[in-house]
Amino acid sequence: MSYFRENIESAKGYEPGFQPPAPAASLLRSKTAGGAEVVKLNTNENPWPPSPAVLKAIAEIKAEQLRRYPDPMGNAFREAAAKINGVEPEWIMCCNGGDDLLRMAFIAFCDKRRPVAYPVPTYSLYPVLANIQNCKAIEVAFDKEFNLPARLARVRAALTIVCNPNAPSGTFIEVEELASLAAEIKGVLLIDEAYVDFAEQNCTELVKQFGNVIILRSLSKGYSLAGLRFGYAIARPETIKGLLKVKDSYNVDAIAIAAATAAIKDREYFKETIEKVKAERKRLTEQLRGLGFTLPESSSNFVFAEHKTCKAKEIYDKLVQRNIYVRYWNNVGIDNKLRITVGTRQQDDTLLAALKEIVAG
Ligand SMILES: Cc1ncc(COP(=O)(O)O)c(C=O)c1O
Repeated sequence: MSYFRENIESAKGYEPGFQPPAPAASLLRSKTAGGAEVVKLNTNENPWPPSPAVLKAIAEIKAEQLRRYPDPMGNAFREAAAKINGVEPEWIMCCNGGDDLLRMAFIAFCDKRRPVAYPVPTYSLYPVLANIQNCKAIEVAFDKEFNLPARLARVRAALTIVCNPNAPSGTFIEVEELASLAAEIKGVLLIDEAYVDFAEQNCTELVKQFGNVIILRSLSKGYSLAGLRFGYAIARPETIKGLLKVKDSYNVDAIAIAAATAAIKDREYFKETIEKVKAERKRLTEQLRGLGFTLPESSSNFVFAEHKTCKAKEIYDKLVQRNIYVRYWNNVGIDNKLRITVGTRQQDDTLLAALKEIVAG
Protein backbone atom coordinates (compact mmCIF):
# COMPACT_ATOMS: atom_id res chain seq x y z
CA MET A 1 0.00 0.00 0.00
CA SER A 2 1.27 3.46 -0.85
CA TYR A 3 1.06 6.56 1.29
CA PHE A 4 0.74 8.69 -1.87
CA ARG A 5 -2.37 9.83 -3.71
CA GLU A 6 -3.01 7.48 -6.66
CA ASN A 7 -2.04 9.98 -9.35
CA ILE A 8 1.20 10.84 -7.55
CA GLU A 9 2.08 7.19 -7.01
CA SER A 10 1.61 6.40 -10.72
CA ALA A 11 3.22 9.63 -12.04
CA LYS A 12 6.64 9.68 -13.67
CA GLY A 13 7.35 13.25 -12.53
CA TYR A 14 9.18 15.96 -14.46
CA GLU A 15 12.47 14.89 -16.01
CA PRO A 16 14.93 17.78 -16.11
CA GLY A 17 17.68 17.78 -18.73
CA PHE A 18 20.95 16.14 -17.66
CA GLN A 19 23.14 18.43 -15.50
CA PRO A 20 26.78 17.35 -15.54
CA PRO A 21 28.60 18.40 -12.36
CA ALA A 22 30.07 21.82 -13.21
CA PRO A 23 32.99 23.43 -11.40
CA ALA A 24 31.93 26.84 -10.10
CA ALA A 25 34.94 28.48 -11.75
CA SER A 26 33.57 28.23 -15.27
CA LEU A 27 30.15 29.11 -16.62
CA LEU A 28 30.91 28.36 -20.25
CA ARG A 29 32.64 25.01 -20.10
CA SER A 30 32.72 22.30 -17.50
CA LYS A 31 34.49 19.03 -17.01
CA THR A 32 33.26 15.52 -16.24
CA ALA A 33 34.54 13.67 -13.18
CA GLY A 34 37.13 12.11 -15.52
CA GLY A 35 38.35 15.57 -16.54
CA ALA A 36 36.94 15.64 -20.13
CA GLU A 37 35.46 18.89 -21.49
CA VAL A 38 31.66 18.98 -21.54
CA VAL A 39 29.68 21.04 -24.06
CA LYS A 40 26.30 21.53 -22.46
CA LEU A 41 23.60 22.59 -24.92
CA ASN A 42 20.67 20.69 -23.42
CA THR A 43 18.78 22.96 -21.00
CA ASN A 44 18.60 26.32 -22.78
CA GLU A 45 20.81 28.18 -20.35
CA ASN A 46 22.31 31.41 -21.65
CA PRO A 47 26.00 30.75 -22.41
CA TRP A 48 26.96 34.27 -21.26
CA PRO A 49 27.36 35.17 -17.58
CA PRO A 50 24.82 37.42 -15.84
CA SER A 51 25.41 41.18 -15.61
CA PRO A 52 28.30 42.20 -13.31
CA ALA A 53 25.67 44.28 -11.47
CA VAL A 54 24.14 41.01 -10.27
CA LEU A 55 27.32 39.79 -8.60
CA LYS A 56 27.82 43.24 -7.06
CA ALA A 57 24.27 43.19 -5.63
CA ILE A 58 24.86 39.74 -4.15
CA ALA A 59 28.21 40.83 -2.65
CA GLU A 60 26.47 43.78 -1.02
CA ILE A 61 23.87 41.67 0.80
CA LYS A 62 23.91 42.50 4.51
CA ALA A 63 23.60 39.94 7.30
CA GLU A 64 20.47 41.77 8.42
CA GLN A 65 18.82 41.00 5.06
CA LEU A 66 19.38 37.31 5.75
CA ARG A 67 18.33 37.41 9.38
CA ARG A 68 14.97 38.92 8.49
CA TYR A 69 12.30 37.46 6.23
CA PRO A 70 12.38 38.95 2.73
CA ASP A 71 9.80 41.39 1.37
CA PRO A 72 6.96 38.94 0.56
CA MET A 73 6.10 40.90 -2.60
CA GLY A 74 9.64 41.69 -3.78
CA ASN A 75 8.60 45.32 -4.29
CA ALA A 76 12.03 46.53 -5.46
CA PHE A 77 11.84 44.07 -8.33
CA ARG A 78 8.17 44.79 -9.03
CA GLU A 79 8.90 48.46 -9.49
CA ALA A 80 11.82 47.86 -11.84
CA ALA A 81 9.89 45.26 -13.89
CA ALA A 82 6.82 47.49 -14.05
CA LYS A 83 8.83 50.36 -15.55
CA ILE A 84 10.40 48.12 -18.18
CA ASN A 85 7.03 46.66 -19.18
CA GLY A 86 5.06 49.92 -19.12
CA VAL A 87 2.65 48.86 -16.34
CA GLU A 88 2.13 49.72 -12.67
CA PRO A 89 3.89 47.58 -9.97
CA GLU A 90 0.47 46.13 -8.96
CA TRP A 91 0.49 44.30 -12.33
CA ILE A 92 3.65 42.35 -11.43
CA MET A 93 4.09 39.33 -9.16
CA CYS A 94 7.53 37.88 -8.36
CA CYS A 95 7.97 34.13 -8.68
CA ASN A 96 10.55 31.53 -7.74
CA GLY A 97 11.23 30.91 -11.43
CA GLY A 98 8.54 30.80 -14.09
CA ASP A 99 7.73 27.28 -12.94
CA ASP A 100 6.43 28.73 -9.66
CA LEU A 101 3.84 30.77 -11.59
CA LEU A 102 2.78 27.72 -13.60
CA ARG A 103 2.22 25.77 -10.39
CA MET A 104 0.19 28.68 -8.93
CA ALA A 105 -1.94 28.90 -12.08
CA PHE A 106 -2.82 25.20 -11.96
CA ILE A 107 -3.78 25.46 -8.28
CA ALA A 108 -5.79 28.65 -8.84
CA PHE A 109 -7.70 27.71 -12.00
CA CYS A 110 -7.80 23.92 -12.44
CA ASP A 111 -9.41 20.96 -10.75
CA LYS A 112 -11.34 17.82 -11.72
CA ARG A 113 -14.03 19.83 -13.49
CA ARG A 114 -11.78 22.62 -14.78
CA PRO A 115 -9.40 21.32 -17.45
CA VAL A 116 -6.21 22.83 -18.82
CA ALA A 117 -5.53 22.96 -22.58
CA TYR A 118 -2.36 23.60 -24.54
CA PRO A 119 -0.97 22.93 -28.00
CA VAL A 120 1.59 20.10 -28.25
CA PRO A 121 4.47 19.46 -28.46
CA THR A 122 5.32 21.99 -25.78
CA TYR A 123 6.93 22.40 -22.34
CA SER A 124 6.83 18.99 -20.68
CA LEU A 125 6.06 20.44 -17.24
CA TYR A 126 2.41 21.27 -18.15
CA PRO A 127 1.12 17.64 -18.09
CA VAL A 128 3.11 16.96 -14.91
CA LEU A 129 1.37 19.87 -13.14
CA ALA A 130 -2.02 18.79 -14.54
CA ASN A 131 -1.50 15.36 -13.05
CA ILE A 132 -0.50 16.75 -9.64
CA GLN A 133 -3.59 18.98 -9.66
CA ASN A 134 -5.74 16.06 -10.84
CA CYS A 135 -7.19 18.02 -13.73
CA LYS A 136 -7.79 16.86 -17.28
CA ALA A 137 -5.16 18.02 -19.78
CA ILE A 138 -6.55 18.66 -23.28
CA GLU A 139 -3.60 18.43 -25.65
CA VAL A 140 -4.27 19.92 -29.10
CA ALA A 141 -1.68 19.07 -31.74
CA PHE A 142 0.19 21.78 -33.61
CA ASP A 143 0.43 21.29 -37.37
CA LYS A 144 3.84 20.68 -38.95
CA GLU A 145 4.55 24.44 -39.08
CA PHE A 146 3.60 24.93 -35.41
CA ASN A 147 0.66 27.22 -36.24
CA LEU A 148 -1.83 27.90 -33.43
CA PRO A 149 -4.49 25.15 -33.70
CA ALA A 150 -7.98 26.65 -34.17
CA ARG A 151 -9.49 23.89 -32.00
CA LEU A 152 -7.71 25.26 -28.94
CA ALA A 153 -10.32 28.02 -28.68
CA ARG A 154 -13.20 25.52 -28.72
CA VAL A 155 -12.21 23.03 -26.03
CA ARG A 156 -13.61 25.07 -23.11
CA ALA A 157 -10.61 24.89 -20.81
CA ALA A 158 -10.45 26.82 -17.54
CA LEU A 159 -6.78 27.47 -18.25
CA THR A 160 -5.26 27.64 -21.73
CA ILE A 161 -1.47 27.81 -21.94
CA VAL A 162 0.41 28.91 -25.02
CA CYS A 163 4.17 28.83 -24.84
CA ASN A 164 5.44 31.65 -27.07
CA PRO A 165 8.09 31.27 -28.40
CA ASN A 166 7.22 27.61 -28.08
CA ALA A 167 9.53 25.05 -26.58
CA PRO A 168 10.84 22.80 -28.05
CA SER A 169 10.09 24.19 -31.55
CA GLY A 170 11.38 27.75 -30.96
CA THR A 171 8.59 29.04 -33.21
CA PHE A 172 6.62 32.25 -32.60
CA ILE A 173 2.86 32.84 -32.82
CA GLU A 174 1.89 36.37 -33.85
CA VAL A 175 0.48 38.65 -31.13
CA GLU A 176 -2.74 39.24 -33.14
CA GLU A 177 -3.47 35.51 -33.18
CA LEU A 178 -3.13 35.30 -29.42
CA ALA A 179 -5.36 38.38 -29.10
CA SER A 180 -8.06 36.52 -31.05
CA LEU A 181 -7.62 33.47 -28.82
CA ALA A 182 -7.92 35.60 -25.66
CA ALA A 183 -11.11 37.17 -27.03
CA GLU A 184 -12.63 33.83 -27.98
CA ILE A 185 -12.04 31.71 -24.87
CA LYS A 186 -14.03 31.93 -21.64
CA GLY A 187 -11.17 30.89 -19.32
CA VAL A 188 -7.71 32.24 -18.60
CA LEU A 189 -4.99 32.47 -21.24
CA LEU A 190 -1.51 32.08 -19.77
CA ILE A 191 1.16 33.04 -22.31
CA ASP A 192 4.43 31.43 -21.30
CA GLU A 193 7.04 33.94 -22.45
CA ALA A 194 10.03 32.26 -20.78
CA TYR A 195 11.98 32.70 -24.05
CA VAL A 196 10.46 35.94 -25.33
CA ASP A 197 13.62 37.99 -24.71
CA PHE A 198 15.06 36.33 -27.84
CA ALA A 199 11.99 37.18 -30.00
CA GLU A 200 11.10 40.39 -31.84
CA GLN A 201 7.76 40.97 -30.12
CA ASN A 202 5.95 40.12 -26.89
CA CYS A 203 2.37 40.04 -25.62
CA THR A 204 2.50 42.64 -22.82
CA GLU A 205 -0.15 44.73 -24.60
CA LEU A 206 -2.64 41.84 -24.38
CA VAL A 207 -2.69 42.07 -20.59
CA LYS A 208 -3.97 45.63 -20.97
CA GLN A 209 -6.55 44.65 -23.57
CA PHE A 210 -7.91 41.46 -22.00
CA GLY A 211 -8.81 40.66 -18.39
CA ASN A 212 -8.14 36.93 -18.86
CA VAL A 213 -4.47 37.13 -19.93
CA ILE A 214 -1.49 36.30 -17.70
CA ILE A 215 2.06 36.57 -18.96
CA LEU A 216 4.91 34.48 -17.61
CA ARG A 217 8.46 35.80 -17.72
CA SER A 218 11.68 34.16 -16.59
CA LEU A 219 15.10 35.53 -15.73
CA SER A 220 16.63 32.10 -16.36
CA LYS A 221 17.25 32.55 -20.08
CA GLY A 222 17.49 36.18 -21.24
CA TYR A 223 19.22 37.31 -18.02
CA SER A 224 21.50 34.25 -17.58
CA LEU A 225 20.08 33.53 -14.12
CA ALA A 226 18.79 29.94 -14.26
CA GLY A 227 20.61 29.19 -11.00
CA LEU A 228 18.93 32.08 -9.15
CA ARG A 229 15.34 30.92 -9.72
CA PHE A 230 13.45 34.09 -10.53
CA GLY A 231 10.54 34.86 -12.80
CA TYR A 232 7.47 37.05 -12.74
CA ALA A 233 3.87 37.37 -13.82
CA ILE A 234 2.30 40.32 -15.61
CA ALA A 235 -1.48 40.47 -15.19
CA ARG A 236 -4.30 42.79 -14.16
CA PRO A 237 -4.14 43.72 -10.42
CA GLU A 238 -7.32 41.73 -9.68
CA THR A 239 -5.76 38.61 -11.24
CA ILE A 240 -2.52 39.16 -9.31
CA LYS A 241 -4.59 39.46 -6.10
CA GLY A 242 -6.20 36.08 -6.78
CA LEU A 243 -2.87 34.41 -7.56
CA LEU A 244 -1.38 35.77 -4.33
CA LYS A 245 -3.81 33.55 -2.40
CA VAL A 246 -1.93 30.46 -3.62
CA LYS A 247 1.59 31.92 -3.48
CA ASP A 248 4.09 30.64 -0.90
CA SER A 249 4.37 33.38 1.73
CA TYR A 250 8.02 34.12 0.90
CA ASN A 251 8.44 32.61 -2.54
CA VAL A 252 11.46 34.75 -3.51
CA ASP A 253 14.39 35.20 -1.14
CA ALA A 254 16.25 38.39 -0.24
CA ILE A 255 19.34 37.55 -2.31
CA ALA A 256 17.22 36.66 -5.33
CA ILE A 257 15.20 39.90 -5.11
CA ALA A 258 18.40 41.99 -5.00
CA ALA A 259 20.11 40.07 -7.79
CA ALA A 260 17.06 39.95 -10.08
CA THR A 261 16.43 43.67 -9.59
CA ALA A 262 20.05 44.47 -10.52
CA ALA A 263 19.78 42.22 -13.58
CA ILE A 264 16.58 43.68 -14.96
CA LYS A 265 17.81 47.25 -14.44
CA ASP A 266 21.00 46.70 -16.47
CA ARG A 267 19.32 47.20 -19.86
CA GLU A 268 22.54 47.73 -21.78
CA TYR A 269 24.12 44.45 -20.68
CA PHE A 270 20.84 42.61 -21.31
CA LYS A 271 20.50 43.93 -24.86
CA GLU A 272 24.13 43.15 -25.65
CA THR A 273 23.78 39.54 -24.45
CA ILE A 274 20.54 39.02 -26.34
CA GLU A 275 22.09 40.34 -29.57
CA LYS A 276 25.06 37.98 -29.14
CA VAL A 277 22.73 34.99 -28.74
CA LYS A 278 20.61 36.04 -31.73
CA ALA A 279 23.66 36.47 -33.98
CA GLU A 280 24.98 33.06 -32.93
CA ARG A 281 21.52 31.52 -33.45
CA LYS A 282 21.57 32.76 -37.05
CA ARG A 283 25.04 31.29 -37.64
CA LEU A 284 24.17 27.96 -35.97
CA THR A 285 20.94 27.68 -38.01
CA GLU A 286 22.79 28.26 -41.29
CA GLN A 287 25.57 25.83 -40.42
CA LEU A 288 23.11 23.12 -39.37
CA ARG A 289 21.18 23.56 -42.62
CA GLY A 290 24.48 23.21 -44.44
CA LEU A 291 24.98 19.83 -42.74
CA GLY A 292 21.59 18.55 -43.97
CA PHE A 293 19.39 19.46 -41.00
CA THR A 294 15.95 20.99 -41.42
CA LEU A 295 14.78 23.38 -38.71
CA PRO A 296 12.11 26.04 -38.34
CA GLU A 297 13.17 29.67 -37.83
CA SER A 298 13.77 30.06 -34.09
CA SER A 299 12.69 33.07 -32.01
CA SER A 300 14.33 31.53 -28.96
CA ASN A 301 17.77 30.57 -27.65
CA PHE A 302 17.58 27.06 -29.07
CA VAL A 303 16.84 25.37 -32.37
CA PHE A 304 14.81 22.23 -33.11
CA ALA A 305 16.57 20.23 -35.78
CA GLU A 306 15.96 17.06 -37.77
CA HIS A 307 18.48 15.49 -40.11
CA LYS A 308 17.44 14.41 -43.58
CA THR A 309 19.00 10.96 -43.28
CA CYS A 310 20.47 10.33 -39.81
CA LYS A 311 18.25 9.31 -36.89
CA ALA A 312 18.14 11.83 -34.04
CA LYS A 313 18.67 9.19 -31.36
CA GLU A 314 21.83 7.92 -33.06
CA ILE A 315 23.17 11.45 -33.40
CA TYR A 316 22.31 12.12 -29.76
CA ASP A 317 24.13 8.98 -28.54
CA LYS A 318 27.20 9.78 -30.61
CA LEU A 319 27.26 13.33 -29.25
CA VAL A 320 27.05 12.01 -25.67
CA GLN A 321 30.07 9.79 -26.38
CA ARG A 322 31.91 13.03 -27.20
CA ASN A 323 30.64 14.77 -24.02
CA ILE A 324 28.33 17.01 -26.02
CA TYR A 325 24.83 17.24 -24.58
CA VAL A 326 21.75 18.33 -26.52
CA ARG A 327 18.12 17.39 -25.70
CA TYR A 328 16.36 14.37 -27.16
CA TRP A 329 12.86 13.08 -26.35
CA ASN A 330 11.66 9.64 -27.35
CA ASN A 331 8.10 10.97 -27.67
CA VAL A 332 5.66 10.46 -30.55
CA GLY A 333 5.99 13.21 -33.18
CA ILE A 334 9.32 14.58 -31.94
CA ASP A 335 11.41 11.41 -31.68
CA ASN A 336 13.50 12.29 -34.72
CA LYS A 337 14.41 15.82 -33.60
CA LEU A 338 17.10 17.34 -31.42
CA ARG A 339 16.70 20.52 -29.41
CA ILE A 340 19.99 22.34 -29.37
CA THR A 341 20.66 25.36 -27.13
CA VAL A 342 22.54 28.21 -28.80
CA GLY A 343 25.96 28.24 -27.14
CA THR A 344 29.04 30.39 -27.53
CA ARG A 345 30.70 30.35 -30.94
CA GLN A 346 33.34 28.02 -29.48
CA GLN A 347 30.80 25.58 -28.03
CA ASP A 348 28.79 25.57 -31.25
CA ASP A 349 31.90 24.99 -33.34
CA THR A 350 32.71 21.92 -31.21
CA LEU A 351 29.15 20.68 -31.76
CA LEU A 352 29.22 21.41 -35.50
CA ALA A 353 32.56 19.64 -35.99
CA ALA A 354 31.17 16.57 -34.19
CA LEU A 355 27.95 16.65 -36.22
CA LYS A 356 29.92 16.90 -39.44
CA GLU A 357 31.72 13.65 -38.57
CA ILE A 358 28.55 11.93 -37.36
CA VAL A 359 26.36 12.72 -40.38
CA ALA A 360 29.18 11.75 -42.77
CA GLY A 361 28.85 8.26 -41.18
C1 LIG B 1 8.69 26.95 -21.70
C2 LIG B 1 9.21 27.19 -20.34
N1 LIG B 1 8.45 27.87 -19.48
C3 LIG B 1 8.86 28.12 -18.23
C4 LIG B 1 10.08 27.68 -17.81
C5 LIG B 1 10.46 27.96 -16.39
O1 LIG B 1 11.62 28.64 -16.28
P1 LIG B 1 12.21 29.03 -14.86
O2 LIG B 1 11.43 28.30 -13.82
O3 LIG B 1 13.64 28.62 -14.92
O4 LIG B 1 12.02 30.50 -14.78
C6 LIG B 1 10.92 26.95 -18.67
C7 LIG B 1 12.21 26.44 -18.22
O5 LIG B 1 12.91 25.73 -18.89
C8 LIG B 1 10.46 26.71 -19.98
O6 LIG B 1 11.20 26.02 -20.85
